[in-house]
Amino acid sequence: MSEAIEYSQEELTLFDEIKNGRRFEADDEMPEIYRKPLMNLLWMQGDSEYSGALGYMPWIEKAPSVREKVLIAQIVKDEMRHASVIYGLLKELGEDTETHVENSELGYKLEEDEANIGFKRMKDDFRVNIFYYGINYWTDFILFNFLMDRAAGHQLEDTLDSSYLPWKKGIEGIYKEEVMHLAHGDKWVRILSKEPKEKEFLQKRLNLWWPRVMNVFGKSTGKSNEFYMKLGLKKRTNKEIRASFVAEIVELCEECGLTLPEYNEAENLKK
Ligand SMILES: [Fe+2]
Ligand SMILES: [Fe+2]
Repeated sequence: MSEAIEYSQEELTLFDEIKNGRRFEADDEMPEIYRKPLMNLLWMQGDSEYSGALGYMPWIEKAPSVREKVLIAQIVKDEMRHASVIYGLLKELGEDTETHVENSELGYKLEEDEANIGFKRMKDDFRVNIFYYGINYWTDFILFNFLMDRAAGHQLEDTLDSSYLPWKKGIEGIYKEEVMHLAHGDKWVRILSKEPKEKEFLQKRLNLWWPRVMNVFGKSTGKSNEFYMKLGLKKRTNKEIRASFVAEIVELCEECGLTLPEYNEAENLKK
């Protein structure tokens, strides 16, 4: 349980208004206490979509069949479109996304294959930190679909009801496409786990990617979460979203005979 937070009168009034149905459009007058957290979330999503697209891109060439190359090209296009939708929202709010994309290293990836950076950030951008890891094998690509596109789906589910209406509108198509990406992951996790050698490698890579994806949901003790909820920008706590994600993964792992490693948040906090 997070401890009680003291809010200002301005914040309490805004929470009440939002609870009673106040919603925002791009050109509405927007209190700074709403605008800033909204921007944080949009930048985080925009940069994640963009660096996600770049990370997937080499796999158009490396995918194991022509049919799969077409599917991966489609996924890359989806992610780049998601980035463009979210950057478009930021532009409407007066942000200079073109300069940001030009000057940031959104294609940067960690060199070390088995790194675990916990909750750390590596560059001056806003991506969710799982996007700093390299996708070094086809199995990694599949696990990224299986784990991260699913994690994104669970997080975006909350945005389907966002108090920021342009975001709510933009997310509908994005959400549907994320569901297709995770289905691609599920299909391949089933294929790979039928082959003993492939399955062994899949298990090994799952062990590596598991803490990385669990960290994506943020610290369960984080205080900003409650604030986002009160602003109507999130509906559930990090912990709740993570639990619904884990439940799905557990089910699929059981079906495929895979074992989920223990996740220790405190250990990851120390990194
Ligand atoms: Fe996406
Ligand atoms: Fe995706």
